Amino acid sequence: MKKVIFITGISSGFGKQTARLLAENGHTVYGTIRKKAVSDTPVHYLKMDLTDIESIKAAVSAVIEKEGRIDVLINNAGMHSGGPVETSPIENINLQMETNFTGMVNVIREVLPTMRKQGGGTIINFSSIGGLMGLPFQAFYSASKFAIEGLSEALRMEVKRFNINVVIINPGDFHTSNSSNRRNYLAPNR
Ligand SMILES: NC(=O)c1ccc[n+]([C@@H]2O[C@H](COP(=O)([O-])OP(=O)(O)OC[C@H]3O[C@@H](n4cnc5c(N)ncnc54)[C@H](OP(=O)(O)O)[C@@H]3O)[C@@H](O)[C@H]2O)c1
Repeated sequence: MKKVIFITGISSGFGKQTARLLAENGHTVYGTIRKKAVSDTPVHYLKMDLTDIESIKAAVSAVIEKEGRIDVLINNAGMHSGGPVETSPIENINLQMETNFTGMVNVIREVLPTMRKQGGGTIINFSSIGGLMGLPFQAFYSASKFAIEGLSEALRMEVKRFNINVVIINPGDFHTSNSSNRRNYLAPNR
């Protein structure tokens, strides 16, 4: 059955490929980007930044206005910071959590009222293998993904009664733009 799908972060990597595949299979796909879209996919592009709540509200309400529903939310967008716990700059730590965790929470909170009203839906959250085990020198990335695990587990039980499924994905290492986009902080030699 044809679904209305909202997917975050489709400029590259998993998001780009997933959005393309779903659109090619006949689903109505709305995907979020931060910069200019360069793609030949039949996807509707929306500007959204996970650190900007107003942009999240605007993107979600644009879909609801147009389609009246969101059947599937795919929380794919995320960033990756690297560096030692001891010396990683606090700005990197905050950005990591604000993007991967708080941003995802805000998207979910915008979509949930519509899913409840329409009688169900599916929320798919991208965690990582790093959400199941702590990755050295990627502690804050891991922490953000552990947070997504806890959030998703709790949410799954909260929304089961509304016929909303919550799914977690835990990829291992894939060659996407994830690594080239990584904000690394290297400790000075001591
Ligand atoms: N690749 C792996 O090995 C791996 C392993 C485990 C989990 N994952 C997870 O898989 C998901 C997708 O990552 P990927 O590997 O496909 O990496 P990617 O190619 O770097 O894609 C990340 C996407 O997230 C978007 N994004 C980043 N910060 C954002 C923000 N503040 N607001 C809105 N969008 C933002 C990026 O947009 P811009 O182009 O604007 O930056 C991009 O579209 C992530 O949640 C990642 O943690 C990846």
